[in-house]
Amino acid sequence: MRVAPIVPPATLGILGGGQLGRYTVMAAASMGYHTVVLDPDPSAPAGLLAHEHLVAAYDDPDALRRLAFDCDAVTTEFENPPADVLDQLSATMVVAPSASAVRIAQDRIVEKAFLVENGFPVGRHQILSGDDASVDVSLVDTGAIIKTARLGYDGKGQRSVTGTAEAIAAWAELGGVACVVEKRLDLETELSVIVGRTASGDVEAWPVAENTHVDGILDLSVVPAAVSAKLADRAVGLAMAITDALDYVGVLAVELFVVGGELLINELAPRPHNSGHWTLDASVTSQYEQQVRAVCGLGLGSTAMTAPAIAMVNLLGDLWEGGDPDWTAVLDDPNVKLHLYGKSEPRSGRKMGHLTVTASATSLAAARALELRAGVER
Ligand SMILES: Nc1ncnc2c1ncn2[C@@H]1O[C@H](COP(=O)(O)OP(=O)(O)OP(=O)(O)O)[C@@H](O)[C@H]1O
Ligand SMILES: [Mg+2]
Repeated sequence: MRVAPIVPPATLGILGGGQLGRYTVMAAASMGYHTVVLDPDPSAPAGLLAHEHLVAAYDDPDALRRLAFDCDAVTTEFENPPADVLDQLSATMVVAPSASAVRIAQDRIVEKAFLVENGFPVGRHQILSGDDASVDVSLVDTGAIIKTARLGYDGKGQRSVTGTAEAIAAWAELGGVACVVEKRLDLETELSVIVGRTASGDVEAWPVAENTHVDGILDLSVVPAAVSAKLADRAVGLAMAITDALDYVGVLAVELFVVGGELLINELAPRPHNSGHWTLDASVTSQYEQQVRAVCGLGLGSTAMTAPAIAMVNLLGDLWEGGDPDWTAVLDDPNVKLHLYGKSEPRSGRKMGHLTVTASATSLAAARALELRAGVER
């Protein structure tokens, strides 16, 4: 089905004002759209750049009335907007991704059930949801990770445990809320696939990214991933099949584990993704522009790379411990792009920015990115 595209100078609303929203605002604005950001934080990075920033809770009736009045389409930049709000807004305008897709991706229990029901590969796991839940010994005795079903990010709401006693204690520490217990897998590597899909079912994916996490937070992404073409194709195929199964509209990120040469789906993010920041600097179309295109019913842009290889490293608040980092070497390098999100409080573990390096091979790009980052601290 083709619906009439929403073209500039229409107004795009964005739920959430973090860095992903900031780049969505920039992409939309450069195409001539107006943007409205809803985020309760007055200093939210996207709010600082949007035409309008509604500083209110995500379910604030006045703010939602204002969004409904001002916007032609609404999207989200995080997985936790109240899905009911998306439903409500969809009565009067285009909302993408849909409430039903976001509802699945924002709850690990629902997400795992969706993946299993649709035949997508996931690791061994169990659900802990009620008082009577008992921990599966065979799952935890070789090591497991307990994850709260809702509201986790950057490794928050997770505990790594070995054995039943530790598992029970960790579950209590997490407040006894609904959780997924996952067998701790021996990861060969981690991949992500970012896909854009339109309402008419057109779909485009970027080359697969290979990701390294430190303390549960993404640290380094390189593209293209150093895996066989067969494995990369299979990862892209899985991600595209997931967008079809969700009848997804917008940009979706699929995080995958490689275990024993096979792919397992870790989780879905119903939005642009940290591991897709590189598309700003080495792709014909960025994931943020693609989000705008898909949500507004335009054709998808090319996902071809404009450099042979790229690496991205996150810049966390810890780098600010001795004062503002020294960016001289970063800014001097012609193949490096510095991105800072305009956050004024550099807390430990907080994503303050990232930098990317293009090169002839990912190993060179990664080495340079890590070297540059190591040198900025005062
Ligand atoms: N079952 C597992 N076995 C081994 N490692 C795991 C497992 N689950 C998670 N991890 C590690 O922890 C990281 C974060 O896990 P996960 O993606 O579930 O958390 P998150 O808080 O949603 O993170 P983010 O929001 O940054 O994607 C994974 O990318 C992986 O490195
Ligand atoms: Mg993750």
